[in-house]
Amino acid sequence: MDREQARHRIEELSEEIRMHNYRYYVLSRALVSDYQFDLKLEELARLEKEFPEYLYPDSPTRHVGGEITREFRQVVHRYPMLSLGNTYSEQDVRDFEERIHKIIGEETEYVCELKFDGVAIGLTYVDGRLVQAVTRGDGVQGDDVTANVRTIRSIPLKLQGEGYPREFELRGEIILPHSSFESLNLQKEEDGEEPFANPRNAASGSLKMQDSAEVARRRLDCFLYTIQGPELPYVTHYESLQAARKWGFRISDYVVRCKTIDDIFDYINTWNEARKDLPFDIDGVVIKVNSYAQQEQLGYTAKSPRWAIAYKFKAEEAPTELISVDFQVGRTGTVTPVANLKPVALAGTVVKRATLHNADVIAGLDVRTGDTVFVEKGGEIIPKITGVDLSLRPAGSQPLMFPKVCPECGASLVRREGEAAWFCPDETACPPQIKGKLEHFISRKAMNIDSLGEGKIEILFDNGLVISPADLYDLKYDLLIGLEKQYKGEGDKKDRVVKFREKTVVNILNGIAASRTVPFERVLYAIGIRYVGETVAKKLARHFGSIDKLRMAGINELTDVEEIGEKIARSLLLWLELPGNIELIERLRSCGLQLAITAEQSPRKSSKLDGMTFVVSGVFGKFSRDEIKKAVEDHGGKNVSSVSARTSYLLAGENMGPEKRRKAETLGVRIISEEEFLKMIES
Ligand code: IVH
Repeated sequence: MDREQARHRIEELSEEIRMHNYRYYVLSRALVSDYQFDLKLEELARLEKEFPEYLYPDSPTRHVGGEITREFRQVVHRYPMLSLGNTYSEQDVRDFEERIHKIIGEETEYVCELKFDGVAIGLTYVDGRLVQAVTRGDGVQGDDVTANVRTIRSIPLKLQGEGYPREFELRGEIILPHSSFESLNLQKEEDGEEPFANPRNAASGSLKMQDSAEVARRRLDCFLYTIQGPELPYVTHYESLQAARKWGFRISDYVVRCKTIDDIFDYINTWNEARKDLPFDIDGVVIKVNSYAQQEQLGYTAKSPRWAIAYKFKAEEAPTELISVDFQVGRTGTVTPVANLKPVALAGTVVKRATLHNADVIAGLDVRTGDTVFVEKGGEIIPKITGVDLSLRPAGSQPLMFPKVCPECGASLVRREGEAAWFCPDETACPPQIKGKLEHFISRKAMNIDSLGEGKIEILFDNGLVISPADLYDLKYDLLIGLEKQYKGEGDKKDRVVKFREKTVVNILNGIAASRTVPFERVLYAIGIRYVGETVAKKLARHFGSIDKLRMAGINELTDVEEIGEKIARSLLLWLELPGNIELIERLRSCGLQLAITAEQSPRKSSKLDGMTFVVSGVFGKFSRDEIKKAVEDHGGKNVSSVSARTSYLLAGENMGPEKRRKAETLGVRIISEEEFLKMIES
């Protein structure tokens, strides 16, 4: 086959596969068998390998993944990603409809939709091609997860049909269907890993994986429900969704138009029942005003549109018997009562345990062993007890007594003023608290030793190898190899064994070694001083520069630091007074951890732009070009002179060269204004 023939065949196959994907994933009407489909895909992949000059960014082979994302760069949303007003009350829905009727004054048409229980995503298309996919994040900026989203087969990489705007954003929900969720968890259990608690967590965990080929195997799916852009071709939401389906997007089949409040409640009631038969989770329905003009008239509150409301379904509930109550000590010392129940089927699983929250809840419910209680399972991972059927209470039952001493270490429990929870104050000797500190130390935002996750810390602790975080740095291959632990499954979970084989041990030791380069601000966060979260640790590290200078600071010097109040300052001083903590610092120092900021970190104002690269071009209103470039660096970003696929942003001033803009647009590099940039670095 010569090059021209190859190009022709590649284009022909790509079109054909796109069409089959659309029929299969969007219309659910396949034309060919899976086998025939795979043959075509394999042929295309083979040709693209042989003629890499024709491997296009929107080729359907990209759905298979392969790209690795080391760090997800932060992207500012062009339109903030708002949330919806939520309610469980029918009256709130009636009030919503009446309010709108009053404001609009004429007949209003509504669109009712399912409320998908997954992870929100914004997809940007330019000239019919997917250029960027960003998670909701905090609503203002989210993570760029484009490489992972490209693997979702129901998301078109190239649009079909016509009439779509040159540039627009579609928003929707990434979900994991029940079938994929179950097979994923089965696999996790076989690998001795902790299964996901629900499909939503699994979807969100999958989206944040570094290896997109693994994301592709997880079979995520996506429903789109909003289109946004400067010049939309339609005047109603409903028309836009129908058009989007023609362009290749997966739009729910269950979007309906309603005229009256009765129609709306018909929809709600139908889906409250029918949701049990859907192959994915929904947690309610969304009601939206159909006309864009009316939407605009109604406007927004600070957080959500006034033209839409989400009605959430009540969690399913079932009665069962309370057999006994365990008192569990958590990582922070909090004691939580957990009920052991007579197993009961609820929302698709068998529930054997449920939380009773705290002493006040036990007293408020007056719940007793032997009682018939109501268990509820919402979107939360842990079911809870919501009530007692007093008419079935057995004679002679006694109120439940909350323990006075810690069930793990025997210390007397204490309760802080204004807090509902009892907790064990003996943080240095209480096993779950020691393990909690270790888990915090290795966590992603702290020392990021991810090879030690998934119950491995517990094994090290149980074998007496690690009590203080500094002990991690004394671990050796011979001490670790062959360690194992059998975990008994609880609730819906099966038994599993975690075993330290050669690869695990090497990974653990490498992970620990690599953590020696973690910057001081994260070490300060990792050692787990009360109230010293990520941001406070950053502020302290930048201000004092080293642990030694921090140790010399008194209360006034501490409270002089921006955002450090007395509560934090006192907690720091208290921590730094304890000899055990000074010993920990000295040990960490001798292990080679970073206890001071390095020269290149010092002039930094923040790390908001960490890992991002900028091309600054044109003339700006508030700053000179050099000032803007300095601001990029002050906040951790890098300046580069020309736009490439690796550039995060083109910061565009007036009279910017058209060539740069064109290049950024083709490569899908976000173009931002001075104002947007200032928002990004604002504290
Ligand atoms: S419309 C302005 N429609 O629910 C917000 N959201 O807080 C527009 N969701 O963040 C959102 N299904 O992630 C909309 N059919 C649907 C939805 C939906 C699920 C999610 C979305 C949003 C959250 C509401």
